[in-house]
Amino acid sequence: MQTYITLNDGTRIPQFGLGVYQVPEGEATFGAVRDALALGVRHIDTAHAYQNERSVGRAVKASGIPREEIWITSKLWPHEYGEGKTAAAIDKMLARLDLDHIDLLLLHQQFGDYLGAWRDMEKAVAAGKVRSIGISNFESERLEELCEAATIKPSVLQVECHPYYQQNALKQRIAQYGTVIESWYPIGHGDKGLIGEPVFTRLAEKYGKTNVQIILRWHIQAGHIVFPKTTDPQHMRDNFDIFDFALTDAEMAEIAALDSGKRFFNMTLAQQEASLGSWHPAD
Ligand SMILES: NC(=O)c1ccc[n+]([C@@H]2O[C@H](COP(=O)([O-])OP(=O)(O)OC[C@H]3O[C@@H](n4cnc5c(N)ncnc54)[C@H](OP(=O)(O)O)[C@@H]3O)[C@@H](O)[C@H]2O)c1
Repeated sequence: MQTYITLNDGTRIPQFGLGVYQVPEGEATFGAVRDALALGVRHIDTAHAYQNERSVGRAVKASGIPREEIWITSKLWPHEYGEGKTAAAIDKMLARLDLDHIDLLLLHQQFGDYLGAWRDMEKAVAAGKVRSIGISNFESERLEELCEAATIKPSVLQVECHPYYQQNALKQRIAQYGTVIESWYPIGHGDKGLIGEPVFTRLAEKYGKTNVQIILRWHIQAGHIVFPKTTDPQHMRDNFDIFDFALTDAEMAEIAALDSGKRFFNMTLAQQEASLGSWHPAD
């Protein structure tokens, strides 16, 4: 049975989902979301920047599954931040998704007028357009700045998180707000070194699972919300098939010992801001 986490605003999010970063708009995204929903996955993680929200929304509609059973997360890009501006951006997002509400709306990056954006996001919650609001990639002191200014505290913080980079310090910083971690790059963006770690191979043999399934199970038991990306039907089936076994405390501790501080995304704040440049996703 798949698991749910109750967020700090009382909503219940399916702990496992499908991420669609780098999945092209059109048949690829539509097919991946359709297949995931058919398997029983009830959570999709997209973003304006991924440019595939329309296909996500189409697949949700085509599934025939009641809307309230599916959790849709999307993210605003910094050019959409600012009081008034963000309200309009949320309406455009709803139109792209062709849905009447977004389950979880995130600030994708910690740049621009994120405080103004947050005020509009809070208003969108009050208006019933968005159920839950959170942030992504806020790892600098801007995290505390936003959390202190917020009336509604962020429900989630979506950041790079995997066995090599377990985010323990960040977890301590967000505990006081009741915010939980969503893991991006949960399997290291497919990194063979991470996936091939001997501890995962040994545990995979013990439980009759794959190394990736052991990593994903570790995320679940560590309390992370997780949405590996895949367009491969076998990987998709495997990734969701992690709810019929449990790692022991000793095994969780063995995996905790892999925390080496190695990130796959290594830009400083200034480099990140420069890399955003003037690019922004099309409406
Ligand atoms: N907020 C942010 O800034 C941010 C940044 C990055 C990612 N994200 C979110 O996090 C999601 C996941 O991150 P990600 O897609 O970059 O990395 P990931 O999920 O860690 O890894 C995806 C890679 O692993 C492969 N893979 C998936 N399942 C597998 C399996 N069972 N066995 C072997 N290989 C497998 C996939 O290839 P196949 O398709 O061939 O299976 C793909 O190459 C994204 O889709 C997005 O929703 C957010």
